[in-house]
Amino acid sequence: MSLTQLIKNLPKAELHLHIEGSLEPRLLWELAQKHQVKLPYQNVREIEQAYQFSSLQSFLDIYYAGANVLRDEDDFYQLMWSYLCRCREENIVHSEIMFDPQTHTQRDVPFSVFMSGFERAIRRAEKEWGMSVLLIMSFLRHLSEADAIDTLLLAKPYYDKIHAIGLDSSELGHPPEKFERVFAKASALGFKLVAHAGEEGPSEYIWQAINLLNIDRIDHGVRCEEDDALLALVRERQIPLTVCPLSNLKLCVVDDINQHNILRLLDAGLLVTVNSDDPTYFGGYLNRNYEVLEASLGMNEKQLRELVTNSFKASFLEEGAKAHWV
Ligand code: ADE
Ligand code: ZN
Repeated sequence: MSLTQLIKNLPKAELHLHIEGSLEPRLLWELAQKHQVKLPYQNVREIEQAYQFSSLQSFLDIYYAGANVLRDEDDFYQLMWSYLCRCREENIVHSEIMFDPQTHTQRDVPFSVFMSGFERAIRRAEKEWGMSVLLIMSFLRHLSEADAIDTLLLAKPYYDKIHAIGLDSSELGHPPEKFERVFAKASALGFKLVAHAGEEGPSEYIWQAINLLNIDRIDHGVRCEEDDALLALVRERQIPLTVCPLSNLKLCVVDDINQHNILRLLDAGLLVTVNSDDPTYFGGYLNRNYEVLEASLGMNEKQLRELVTNSFKASFLEEGAKAHWV
């Protein structure tokens, strides 16, 4: 069997996926028509052509503008449903999905609207094909910690639907230490913790995420290689890294995919996983990210199997459910 076929056939978990980053240009266009939102594009093709980025911020500007078409419960249902259907096609049996509540509450779209749309799609996928989903509520780090604390309070009626807390958006200038108190509160409430760190930001931000936020997993973290002591710690403690190769390429975190360090980190014994981040913006869902590793880095079958096993090992599934896959 070819590696491409094996990538498709193997049951996989995805641990780093922003649901707002799975908004397809066609759905974006349709929702803009539905709600009469004016877009700076004349058609779906122009939307696709706008997806060229020079940095994380240049992407985030377009990503937040795109999310502005999400207005009612059914929009959030369609968004989640279309990603979950893609999971079924790609044999992603478990996904830990991030959502950015502040992107919506800031526009006066309340928790009740997006949470019920997400829940309706998730329940359907669980029932129809046994899909397993956990939700990660991410705070926007370009906003204040007080805003994150308010958001944590607003989410109270939905705590039983949320498994983990995350931290995303503009990394540079917004270090993890800014969110120490809200992460401590979330931890006391029993949430698992993750944070984007070492994507564009320096390795110091990874230290802070580990030592000050007490995270269970690092999103990206590819810059841990710049600090030998950090690399050793991440390996020793087996702190998972949710790496997103196509995202790193599209946001210029690496100049060339041939230079990506994911297989080097894997072979050095780190618990690295493959993920798609914002698939519609970065040119590929999960399987495409694995395919790129084969085509550009010469990933072999052993490495593929290790990466896929890691995706379950690093998940927040209960041990019994994990054991089924690893
Ligand atoms: N929000 C959505 N995608 C992100 C990324 N790659 N980094 C930081 N924040 C994000
Ligand atoms: Zn991300």
